[in-house]
Amino acid sequence: MSRIIIVSNRTPGKGPAAGGLAVALRDTLAAREGFWFGWSGKLVDEPSPKAKFDSIDGLSVAQVDLTREDYQAYYAGFSNSILWPSFHLRLDLATIEAHWYEGYRRVNTQFARALLPLLKPDDIIWVHDYHLIPLASELRQLGARNRIGFYLHIPFPTSDALYAIPHHQELMRDLSRYDLVGMQANRDVTAFTEFAEHQAPSTLAGSPLKSVDFGRTEVAAFPIGSDPDAFARLAASPAAIKMIKRMERSLNGQQLILGVDRLDYSKGLPQRVEAYEKLLANNTRFRREVHMLQVAPPSRDSIKEYKQTSDELDAICGRVMGRFAEPDWQPLTYVKRAYGQPSLAGLYRLARVGLVTPLRDGMNLVAHEYIGAQDPADPGVLILSRFAGAAEIFEDAILVNPFDTDETAEALRMALDMDLPERQRRWQRLMKAAKKHNVEDWSKAFLDRLAPASTAGTGTRDI
Ligand code: G6P
Repeated sequence: MSRIIIVSNRTPGKGPAAGGLAVALRDTLAAREGFWFGWSGKLVDEPSPKAKFDSIDGLSVAQVDLTREDYQAYYAGFSNSILWPSFHLRLDLATIEAHWYEGYRRVNTQFARALLPLLKPDDIIWVHDYHLIPLASELRQLGARNRIGFYLHIPFPTSDALYAIPHHQELMRDLSRYDLVGMQANRDVTAFTEFAEHQAPSTLAGSPLKSVDFGRTEVAAFPIGSDPDAFARLAASPAAIKMIKRMERSLNGQQLILGVDRLDYSKGLPQRVEAYEKLLANNTRFRREVHMLQVAPPSRDSIKEYKQTSDELDAICGRVMGRFAEPDWQPLTYVKRAYGQPSLAGLYRLARVGLVTPLRDGMNLVAHEYIGAQDPADPGVLILSRFAGAAEIFEDAILVNPFDTDETAEALRMALDMDLPERQRRWQRLMKAAKKHNVEDWSKAFLDRLAPASTAGTGTRDI
């Protein structure tokens, strides 16, 4: 059976914080003698052209270092100051320095050169996320004939936002060098198709895009999931129970409203706290009866727009505290640090409301994990943004427009007032959907489509 090679900017980390993706792919990689390839997280003056192998919690990982200059242009620059905001439709937060593209390309070339000597002809390569769109092109230029798939974990932008990205034609051409391109949601495939089929030929007449043949590249939705049963087990683990006990003591009977997000402007954190503020302002009966906890580990803090979001959140949380706190009651707690999955599972289980309101999100796995961790006898309520890919799956959440803080405040009221039978009914259907869209089936579906048993390893694609 062909080996599977996973490539992503970051390789999985050690310990209990390891993401669901790493956990899900660990067995596949072990069974098929594959490995995970990516950046080591280290910045050095002169990176070795060769990748170094390591074993991280039983996963075989090959890593390369980057120079500080390339990190700036490729990671902080093109990937996270141009692609990330544009793909999330936040052109107002994009910083466009066209020269970052050279660094982005350079790192993709560096990855391809370090990966190529490690490949066998029938290896199946699965590339993840927006940092590495050109990787298949680079590998094919070096002669790789393997089946190569790409998965975009973030939303695909509308045509207008795509046009705002320097070198977007090349990026589209790069996507056409993959055998399979996977996206999170139907809306992403629709946006892609609209650009590729209708707008591109007329608007970009004479550009290289005219020769792009998407006919050979399949583009399809593969909504990622979590392992909800594992989250249910985790929520009953000693670490989770310890967290639940700590929280129960401090909550003293108040109902918990919980948000867990990287501190990123796409997550809609200021709007979320504003909605909570409106809940307290409009419904005095909830004061002293509820508590909001927002866990927001800092992210990409070398980028100005992230610092601004963090400052904005500090200000709005301070405002809500000043407006509603009393000497013996605080309306909210805001924690800027990361927790391991067992502690998070405990928090999810305790929370009466899971508040997942990104302004735009590829999928949002917090929604999946929150559902997995609930107590079937007394489940909480999921409030979910319509603009998360997860909204295509979880119709039984309370769906909200996160820009409309009145609507979110009303959803909070509904969730807090919801009776037990209704909570159970909704949760049972949500759990069924979470199980149906689990991460193991997701990776299997993608890999089966990328390399069905009959074609795996034939290496027949033209260069
Ligand atoms: C999102 C992206 C991932 C990325 C993660 C953390 O989930 O889709 O590709 O790894 O954020 O961001 P960071 O910049 O810290 O890797």
